[in-house]
Amino acid sequence: MKYIVLIFLLQLFSLSLSEVVVTPKIQCRAQECEGDNFCFQGYCTSCEITRRQWNQGKPLWGTKVGEAIKVPAYSNFGDPNVLDTKKDEFLEDSKRIFGEEVYVGQKYQCVQFARRFWIVHYNSTFGSVNYAEQIFYLQQAYNFNTKQSLQLKKFQNGDIHPPQQGDLLIWKKDEEEFPYGHVAIVISVEMESSYPHVLIAEQNYDQSWDARSFSRALRLIKGENNEITISNNRQIFPTREDLKCRDTEVTSQGVILGWVRLNIQ
Ligand SMILES: *[C@@H]1O[C@H](CO)[C@@H](O)[C@H](O)[C@H]1NC(C)=O
Repeated sequence: MKYIVLIFLLQLFSLSLSEVVVTPKIQCRAQECEGDNFCFQGYCTSCEITRRQWNQGKPLWGTKVGEAIKVPAYSNFGDPNVLDTKKDEFLEDSKRIFGEEVYVGQKYQCVQFARRFWIVHYNSTFGSVNYAEQIFYLQQAYNFNTKQSLQLKKFQNGDIHPPQQGDLLIWKKDEEEFPYGHVAIVISVEMESSYPHVLIAEQNYDQSWDARSFSRALRLIKGENNEITISNNRQIFPTREDLKCRDTEVTSQGVILGWVRLNIQ
């Protein structure tokens, strides 16, 4: 009888062992993991935990999140009150320097960063807009030094003329996910690398930057006829596979209309 019990127990034990489901571990190299997974220490790993940690670490409203070519950017996370006019920013001392008050924008919207960048680097601003997408349809900009209008050059995403440093990259508005569109500044363009990309700087997108001097590296695709298309998805470098997790199914749907350039001469 004792033996029978023992055999029974052994059988039970071996059965339960065989029932343990071993999750198949997929070995990977850079860019090889499909879906919502990234290559971590040689194995495809779910983005879930990485994304949750990143979301939990978002800096509070007003915190400096980076600085691109001497222009700092701030978090707009949990914007305290969208309609508060106290958040309207005017350029300090602009009445004395330019003889007129220069409006920068509402802290810390995407448009406010773009205007600040153009004011700091070009002493210029683009016309009034209610939301970022409208920038793509403006005709002129204005220089505070010369008091003259400047032309804006527009390039549709897919144009053969690549974006340049200082260009405004404009996102189309979409009623559900991007009701205002979006604007970012082009910091640099790298077309000939194995990982073609543009580095951009922006406010009010992820609320935190991927690096100190740029917010994201977007994938650049060069077509058969030299047309340049900028994707709303990050370019993934082998050393930073985890950044893949910052784009989601929703954010990846943002459509880039093109780039806007200040015609300085
Ligand atoms: C901007 O204006 C200031 C004040 O007039 C001037 O010192 C500076 O050189 C100007 N910068 C550019 C890029 O025009």
